[in-house]
Amino acid sequence: MCGIVGFAGARRASDIIYNGLKQLEYRGYDSAGIATLSDGKISALKRRGRVSVLESEIEKLGGVTGIGHTRWATHGKPSDENAHPHVFGKFAIVHNGIIENYSDLKEKYFGGVKFNSDTDSEIIVRLLDKFYGGDLVGALKKISLILKGSYAVAVICADFEGIAVLKRNNPAIIGYGDGENFAASDAPALAGLCSEISVLDDGDIALITKDGVNIFDENLQGVVRERLVNLATPASLDLGGCPHYMLKEIREVPASVERTRLAYLTVESKVKEVLRGVKRVIITGCGTAYNSGLVAKRYIESFVKIPAETEIAGEFRYKNPVITPETAVIAISQSGETADTVEAAKLAVSCGAKVVAVTNAPYSQLTRIADVVVPVGAGSEICVAATKSYTGQIAALYLIAGTLAGIDASEKLLKIPKLCKETLEHIDIDTLADMCARSGGVYFLGRDIDYAVALEGSLKLKEISYVPSEGYPAGELKHGTLALIDIKTVAVVIITDERLAGKSENAVEQVLSRKGKVAVISNVAGIEKRLEGRAEVIKIPACDEFLSPLLSAIAVQLLAYKTALLLDRDPDKPRNLAKSVTVE
Ligand code: M6R
Repeated sequence: MCGIVGFAGARRASDIIYNGLKQLEYRGYDSAGIATLSDGKISALKRRGRVSVLESEIEKLGGVTGIGHTRWATHGKPSDENAHPHVFGKFAIVHNGIIENYSDLKEKYFGGVKFNSDTDSEIIVRLLDKFYGGDLVGALKKISLILKGSYAVAVICADFEGIAVLKRNNPAIIGYGDGENFAASDAPALAGLCSEISVLDDGDIALITKDGVNIFDENLQGVVRERLVNLATPASLDLGGCPHYMLKEIREVPASVERTRLAYLTVESKVKEVLRGVKRVIITGCGTAYNSGLVAKRYIESFVKIPAETEIAGEFRYKNPVITPETAVIAISQSGETADTVEAAKLAVSCGAKVVAVTNAPYSQLTRIADVVVPVGAGSEICVAATKSYTGQIAALYLIAGTLAGIDASEKLLKIPKLCKETLEHIDIDTLADMCARSGGVYFLGRDIDYAVALEGSLKLKEISYVPSEGYPAGELKHGTLALIDIKTVAVVIITDERLAGKSENAVEQVLSRKGKVAVISNVAGIEKRLEGRAEVIKIPACDEFLSPLLSAIAVQLLAYKTALLLDRDPDKPRNLAKSVTVE
């Protein structure tokens, strides 16, 4: 959710920042901008649109120090004026987050003064200008005491050949180079630029020059933050010969499952220790992560026979939930930075619950809160739509449920990567994609675990193709939604549970009788014959009933991808969205 990059070195800053912003575009792509400092003078360039809109002009920006921003608009529409950096007086700033009290601050300190933008962020540069008396750290500290909300801010000041960073509730990292140093929202911006990073804590202020980094904590005491290996490499950002990251990442599902299985071996005993005596599990996350939690509920209730609930993090954190010390909260987040999920985990900690983080991001905020971190081995996921991280999360959750139940889940999971590869090699989803692209709406249906995947299939399709879609329990259709079925609708019915196949096939018949088109994603024997000539059947390999989501997920992900292409959408950067949702 907005990406920021800062550079202080001896090379031309605008080039380095531009390349860094390109790597952070998954955080937002409504507008982009760069400001640099040269001989004590700030120059800025900012435009509505993707980062590439800056390319032809960046050479106008001289200087070896600068900051840059790629925006996901919250306050103020995407426009040149609302693009960052915001420049005023001796300062330019870029901001990721939301300043919740910006209107009050504007009124209090600036009365009727007209600002240059409609953003909440401009208040930061105006306040800096107001409070600055030659002491940059002092001015940043003063504004941190009155700003409410979340922010990672990078600043350049005409009086200081370097950049300053201020952080609260939004991620900011420092990168250490050779004669040059960096700041960024996220490690991919620094892939190939530095091998060591530090993660800033809330309340930290960092001063970064080409020669070094000074970090001050909340009390303005100098601190050293742990140096960590930068895991993002240029190779992890490569498209691997695919036209889009989404396709590349779906093809990496088998590796994601296998790496997750292997990584789990290193944390299994800790998971066992943390979850000992737990009587109830609450699983929380947002979007796709929430959907993987729906699968986990089935695992925990079936294997462990203790109550498990799945809660949308943004609801859970505000509903005054009953959480006791005998409750375990499993917080799932690809990025580990989703504001609602991080806050839900903090709430669980404050209630004395055990917190398990399931995340793809080893240094994220979520990892700092949890009692134990279960790594998802998806590797860097660039496409806004989650794919290999979803399957990695399901693998991790299956293993956690196995540990709770005392079952060797790893052994069962061992066979899955091969079946995922088979699915990828043999699946033919083109006809169904064509049906979806031409449809007036797509309903994803399923029962029990298949319903959980149906919700994810629907989310994926609407997210990247913009085709209206809903996920429903197959049995619910007749209780209202069937009224929407007509010749223009498509029902995609997921049927992998032999036990419930007959029941789900009832839904197929109900849709067909109302002239809706039907496709079935299934591994149930004999289904092609039963539906021959009446429905499109997409076969996936047979496997353990609890692990079928790892295969049906590939089908719905490819379906969304191919439908998006048919409709000429950019699958990697769907409209209005960003990958890392660090604001409420
Ligand atoms: O980083 P997180 O897993 O916490 O992100 C949660 C959701 O924003 C995310 O899963 C979103 O729904 C995906 N873009 C869906 O593909």
